[in-house]
Amino acid sequence: MTSPTYAPSAELASKAHVDAAKYEEMYAASIKDPDGFWREQGARIDWIKPFTQVKNVSYDFGNVNINWYADGTLNVSANCIDRHLATRGDQTAIIWEPDSPDEAAQHITYQELHDNTCRMANVLKDMGVGKGDRVVLYIPMIPEAAYAMLACTRIGAIHSIVFAGFSPDALAARVNGSEAKVVITADEAPRGGRNTPLKTNADKALEACSDSVKSLVVRRTGSDVPWNDARDYDYNALAAQAATTCAPEEMGAEDPLFILYTSGSTGQPKGVVHTTGGYIVYASLTHQMTFDYHEGDIFWCTADVGWVTGHSYIVYGPLANGATTVMFEGTPTYPDASRFWQVCEKHKVNQFYTAPTAIRALMGQGDEFVKKADLSSLRILGTVGEPINPEAWNWYNDVVGGGNCPIVDTWWQTETGGHLMTPLPGAHATKPGSAMKPFFGIEPVVLEPASGEIIEGNGVEGVLCIRDSWPGQMRTVWGDHERFEKTYFSDYKGYYFTGDGCRRDEDGDYWITGRVDDVINVSGHRMGTAEVESALVAHEKVAEAAVVGYPHDIKGQGIYCYVTLMSGEEPTEELRKELRTWVRTEIGPIASPDLIQWAPGLPKTRSGKIMRRILRKIAENDYGSLGDTSTLAEPAVVDDLIENRMNR
Ligand code: WTA
Repeated sequence: MTSPTYAPSAELASKAHVDAAKYEEMYAASIKDPDGFWREQGARIDWIKPFTQVKNVSYDFGNVNINWYADGTLNVSANCIDRHLATRGDQTAIIWEPDSPDEAAQHITYQELHDNTCRMANVLKDMGVGKGDRVVLYIPMIPEAAYAMLACTRIGAIHSIVFAGFSPDALAARVNGSEAKVVITADEAPRGGRNTPLKTNADKALEACSDSVKSLVVRRTGSDVPWNDARDYDYNALAAQAATTCAPEEMGAEDPLFILYTSGSTGQPKGVVHTTGGYIVYASLTHQMTFDYHEGDIFWCTADVGWVTGHSYIVYGPLANGATTVMFEGTPTYPDASRFWQVCEKHKVNQFYTAPTAIRALMGQGDEFVKKADLSSLRILGTVGEPINPEAWNWYNDVVGGGNCPIVDTWWQTETGGHLMTPLPGAHATKPGSAMKPFFGIEPVVLEPASGEIIEGNGVEGVLCIRDSWPGQMRTVWGDHERFEKTYFSDYKGYYFTGDGCRRDEDGDYWITGRVDDVINVSGHRMGTAEVESALVAHEKVAEAAVVGYPHDIKGQGIYCYVTLMSGEEPTEELRKELRTWVRTEIGPIASPDLIQWAPGLPKTRSGKIMRRILRKIAENDYGSLGDTSTLAEPAVVDDLIENRMNR
């Protein structure tokens, strides 16, 4: 199968940081001499005490230990703010675009970012937060989210952001899991014209947390919220009194920078830990190279800071590079489907980075919404979060990019801190749907799933592992290093296991084929089927549940649930609704089941293991190729499931 390729214009390639020859040269150098390559790249960051060591990594199972620049010291907020002040104090650091187009955008200069970050840092200090303490952020996409992240890094506290769409239960689990001292939240979160009562949700969560946890409340809409004087601190009042200077704490390169909870194939979400030095080097380098970022560019990543994409490509990467980064509070379709494009026009965006699910949803609304905006400022387009289908890719390329903007399809993960595979805009002729090439320092290997043997050559498919380490790699699971080793280093010894499948085509270019484990990707949101199952079985009428993904036109994957009820319970339409609401309350709206099939029984092996392969096939409406069902304890349950399947 050959794919059409789209080469960058000669003009773009000639102005790019990296052209085809330069990529080959830099990539070869990064693999041949990682220490030399990353020593040089380490210089893009200001160190308080320069590092002498570069890479010090063991992937040995039982002793996985990842260190980069370990003897250097630095401060991330100083790198994202202070070092820019002399040359670009008056330049806009953040353009904040509110949910409603009728509300004025804000342009926050680097000097203002400095002052507000210091204010927030001083408020946190006064609340007793210090180096190594955890602070949870449960906050809308408002400038204070960036101030809070940077304030934590300034005083050496470790932030853990919980997406504002998560439920109080999910928030409580993360506050308790990270033993946070403070939760930063806001009165309400406006999104798509509706206000989520964030403070009320946070209050509910805190009922399940220690009394010592304090909350710092940012005023966003100014609406009345319940107030507990013993616990709640008024950010706006305190910040107005706080000093606009705060000395940055000297941090070790391997001190934790942030924790971000993400879903795995088993159990509850795990706290991915990123550290200070390697992460910021990697975020900065990937932001500059992948988006071919140049001085003066306006960069917009539409993600939420609750996800890793928002960490690396709204806040840390762009600000470390002295960029102007757009922060958008709203949704792609409010007030209508031209909002993204209106914002691109209004702020003269040069690089635009979004998710395939948004592209598919907007494509479905027709071209007029795009065409009425002037998109001539756009130079590079990016996608992230899930495989992009060629139809959506082509629409993005032709209608949004006018055929002039290289598309960078960036493959990476919460665990990887930054892009691991992506075309570089000036270097590679892209193919719709392919993540193309490894980034500098990244050595992908394709393995035979069962044997773990390396598959050499082109035109092959298997599971995707990475041979060696890179500076942006996660270091551990918060509080559970054993789980870290088991999840990423035990299945294929000596490699980092990504959980994704991949194909290397005849030209040696990479295509991500999706997760090979029980993680699903719903509208670019990563979810463990185990989490949804455990929410379902927590309902008193549910005896057993199995959850799988199935192809969904807009969301990429939808959530398909097989539910066995307690004996005597009636499978009614009301109960279906009730279960849907139940899961939304337990986890959050993003986990809402799309299809619920009543299953009198689930296909199990004689040892009692649920055969998910079969459930996946039925959910995909591909029951003709179920494979061997002879090992099932009760083969007849499969016929019933096929008969009553929901996705026809
Ligand atoms: C998937 C998001 C195909 C993949 C940054 C990965 C992708 C998971 C792509 C990580 C892409 C991300 N093409 N699949 N360009 N980008 N994925 O942790 O399955 O939320 O393992 O990080 O998303 O999701 P996460």
